Amino acid sequence: MSRRSIVAGNWKMNGSPDSIKQLMDALLEHNLADLKCDIIVCPPALFVERVLGVAGNRVAVGAQNVNENDKGAFTGEISAQMLKSIGCKYAIVGHSERRQLFAETSEQVALKASALLELGLTPILCVGETLEQREGGETLSVVKSQIDAVVNQCGIKAFERIVIAYEPVWAIGTGKTASPQQAQEVHSAIRMDLAKQDKSIAEGVSILYGGSVKADNAAELFSEADIDGGLIGGASLIAEDFYQICRAAG
Ligand code: 13P
Repeated sequence: MSRRSIVAGNWKMNGSPDSIKQLMDALLEHNLADLKCDIIVCPPALFVERVLGVAGNRVAVGAQNVNENDKGAFTGEISAQMLKSIGCKYAIVGHSERRQLFAETSEQVALKASALLELGLTPILCVGETLEQREGGETLSVVKSQIDAVVNQCGIKAFERIVIAYEPVWAIGTGKTASPQQAQEVHSAIRMDLAKQDKSIAEGVSILYGGSVKADNAAELFSEADIDGGLIGGASLIAEDFYQICRAAG
């Protein structure tokens, strides 16, 4: 079964008009057409349209969050329709920073995924355990419950159009990458769990790994059977490093 291999950059709250231009110029200098993976960048919302204007057809652009409501009195928020209207195709939902710092629940994350799917956008659904949960032996149950919330809200068939990103919280921005075996164990458990509901959907869903992926550890992670690419934070802000990670994904 061949799955889409995907490398997505989550720029988080970084960048300025100048730095973004430099980053995109440097990335697009490379011959991306020869790479097989899908490439996505997720700038801060304010810059999504600007990046869409320069990204060309080889690099897709996503948002880092979306509000679950259609419209209305939600000061500071952005709807799926707004993202769609400017040509944005993806949005990250449920990043651990949003779960932890902005108290997003799994149910809310599921509603965000649903809002995107209704308009034909692709959610990049982040799941992952904290260090405490890992040490307590809860990794698989935490990840399962985060995914189950989306299955319950959107149905298993929705996973035909969802990308999953496993991001252990303890590996994000810490320089502590999960070992390829640790990541593979969780990726394979996610896939097996989905397979209980629909084998072909489980086989087809791309599951990315995120958490301190760098140019020098990407190839080893991506060589695991159930790791279909990466969601990259810090290293996605350095064009050369991000390109090397894309190359590692094929
Ligand atoms: P780092 O690659 O900086 O660890 O961040 C990972 C991440 O959170 C991507 O969403």
